[in-house]
Amino acid sequence: MARIQRIARQFRRSYAVAKPTPPSLKSAKLADPRSVEVSFTDGSSYRFHSLWLRDGCRDHSHVEASSERRLDASPLIARMPLGTGARSIEVDTAGETLKVEWEEGSVPLSTFDAGFLRAFADVCGKPIERGHVEASEGDWFSFIDGKPSSLAKPRESLRSWKQGDDVQVPRMDYNAIGSNHREFLQTLMDPGVVIVENMPEDRSYDGSILSAMAMDHLGGLQKHPRRSEAHWTISTQEEVLPSNMTASARGATNAYDTNKQLCNHTDQSLYGLPGLLLMFHCAMGEGNNSLTDGFAVAYALQDRHPEYFDVLSRHGMAAGRRLEYYTSGPLMFDTNHRVLHTDEKGGLTRVQYHESYRTPLTVPYDEFELYYSALSKFYEMVHSPEFQAHITLREGQCLIMNNWRTMHGRAGLKGKARTILGGTVTREAFYSAVRQMEQTELGLSPQEECGVPTGSYRYLAQRDALLSSVGGQQKAATA
Ligand SMILES: [Fe+2]
Repeated sequence: MARIQRIARQFRRSYAVAKPTPPSLKSAKLADPRSVEVSFTDGSSYRFHSLWLRDGCRDHSHVEASSERRLDASPLIARMPLGTGARSIEVDTAGETLKVEWEEGSVPLSTFDAGFLRAFADVCGKPIERGHVEASEGDWFSFIDGKPSSLAKPRESLRSWKQGDDVQVPRMDYNAIGSNHREFLQTLMDPGVVIVENMPEDRSYDGSILSAMAMDHLGGLQKHPRRSEAHWTISTQEEVLPSNMTASARGATNAYDTNKQLCNHTDQSLYGLPGLLLMFHCAMGEGNNSLTDGFAVAYALQDRHPEYFDVLSRHGMAAGRRLEYYTSGPLMFDTNHRVLHTDEKGGLTRVQYHESYRTPLTVPYDEFELYYSALSKFYEMVHSPEFQAHITLREGQCLIMNNWRTMHGRAGLKGKARTILGGTVTREAFYSAVRQMEQTELGLSPQEECGVPTGSYRYLAQRDALLSSVGGQQKAATA
């Protein structure tokens, strides 16, 4: 049985969202006017700066319904003295809210939900007692949250794959995406590729089906700066190609000349932050694509030649491109991105590579030979029978890849007819879709979720569960 299919099934089985246990406030006391000690029912206790509470409060006195700060309530703009402290504090009898009365300032009282405080306690509070911390569900999204401190998904938890595993890409029916949204998003990240089947026909090749799917489930398509539409078209049919491109210049490119083979690469490799997802909707005909798990290659490279992994993650690869086939004007790239992006602990966060766009290397003289050897070995492995798989994409199917991991190429289409409508989804859009899904499943309100890390939503969900058992209307009155 194909390993990648087994992986997809394991995913389905292992990811049932367990409703978290409610955390409430057990007690709170003013340590002194400038700090507040809070104890939770999970056994943990933390000390918060009073000024952090005043500055970070998200109740209606501090935050507009639009989720923006009320500027006249902001301590910075109100020029509150930094030494301002709390006059008194009070926990309600249900342990749901903490109220803090201030010594001075434009806002006399701030109200905090128990879950809100617990969500930030580990990050901003000074721990007094750690208590019992329930393990969170597989944190499959924090590595794309865009925060500087974010760590890569651990290597040992990755569902990496290679051709030797008899690759069969996970598949999902178009009509099943809505009811399997979590599995869909997770599988897109890891193992990083899905084929959506039974896509509705796009009879006019206008990209509307692709665009709607991205809008409904993935946060929406990314708009290209020079195209009139968010999607692109690559076709053997000249008449369906977009009118905003000049045919002569386009035909001379490797990317658009479907007769030519295309080395395995990631898209938008010249961007500072490439799109996270890449989608190919095959609206007519069929074609062959090569696929390689870039993470599997990179970690194998680290095992076999650690010095190669190291140098590809330290030095940028110079790259540039002149795009002159858009009627709206040219687009020029000049970059020096790393091929292997790693977090502060050395974990792999992104692969970014396209051989066609390399420009003269700018690696220091003393490391040039090592770098070139590393690049050569990486290229060889990416195209090796060990790692490179092939798929046939047929009409009615949509191939979606994690573009920070899964590398793709074209096997050449000479003699075949095919029309592909493609597009990308930014990290921001996808991450927003993840947050939206989590909010919906846990029943969070827009007011309370904003600013809370996705991994800490469970604390708000717990609070909601508690509130719903005692009547949620009080919440609105005290928020
Ligand atoms: Fe591509």
